[in-house]
Amino acid sequence: MSARPRVVITRKIPAACEEDAVKHFDATINREDVPLSVDQLKEALRTADGLLPTVTDKVTADVLGAEPLRTKIIANFGVGFNNIDIDAARVRGLTVTNTPDVLTDDTADIGVTLLLMVARRAGEGERHVRAKAWTGWRPTHMLGTKVTGKILGLVGMGRIAKAVARRAHHGFGMKIIFHDPYPPKPEEAKALGAEQKGSIEEVLREADFVSLHCPATPETRHLINGERLRQMKPGGFLINTARGDVVDEAALVAALRQGVIAGAGLDVYEREPAVSPELLAMENVVLFPHLGSATLETRIAMGMRALENLKLFFAGQPVRDRVV
Ligand code: 8YV
Repeated sequence: MSARPRVVITRKIPAACEEDAVKHFDATINREDVPLSVDQLKEALRTADGLLPTVTDKVTADVLGAEPLRTKIIANFGVGFNNIDIDAARVRGLTVTNTPDVLTDDTADIGVTLLLMVARRAGEGERHVRAKAWTGWRPTHMLGTKVTGKILGLVGMGRIAKAVARRAHHGFGMKIIFHDPYPPKPEEAKALGAEQKGSIEEVLREADFVSLHCPATPETRHLINGERLRQMKPGGFLINTARGDVVDEAALVAALRQGVIAGAGLDVYEREPAVSPELLAMENVVLFPHLGSATLETRIAMGMRALENLKLFFAGQPVRDRVV
């Protein structure tokens, strides 16, 4: 029997996934759980047959230039793969996979959580109580914005956006509008009470809440810039569970400061894990530490899905989630 493939797993993963990884592979797991350096990533590519990275590993063209390159497959732990230079991976003949589907519901839940929290001032209210500042109920205390029946605008209408639409439409009676260059079938949109718009601008102008669900690509970098924020309703809220660089964070800070929009709920940031200090001081933003897929069940499912892609690849079979 030939030796088991050597796989480097760049972060600590759930125990069930670790067990599966060491059973099937000669696996090196970064149990210290601090991001690998550029040199460590290059070393992994020189010494392992497969790499299982996460969003915190910047697998750039420089990293992929490692020589001699032993790695044949990068099985990303995550559906988003903007941490990997896909063109460079293609040039180097690498297979790249991701983990779609399994995190759709959890990420949608986090999007809806942000929406509700920012509209109903939940973070602010929590801080208020904990600070022992609450002096009691009164009719005008901490009034938020009603969610039920409002208009939710989705930028991108893929799996996660559709799951958000389902919750918002069927749960909160929201009207859904969206823009996506690759829209779903009309029947599918109709079942979600979703109306397609011809441009992002139309979505921004009409929505009370705008939620971002596009991938991070060179084309979508700073898609939400100062000009687009100014198209939003003055009482509008921006929700981002996609990727930080889809939003110009400095422009968002300015828009919030100037009251161009009413608030924001963010799970991702342009310079993650750094967050613009101005945001930290604002009461009308809700800030999560990239929690989209952070449930035990889903992180196990993501790990298993990445491992499944590795197993299929090394068995010479088609991988399940090919990106390249
Ligand atoms: C992951 C995510 O946890 O899957 C994604 O794209 O954004 C997160 O939910 C992260 O990418 C881990 O690599």
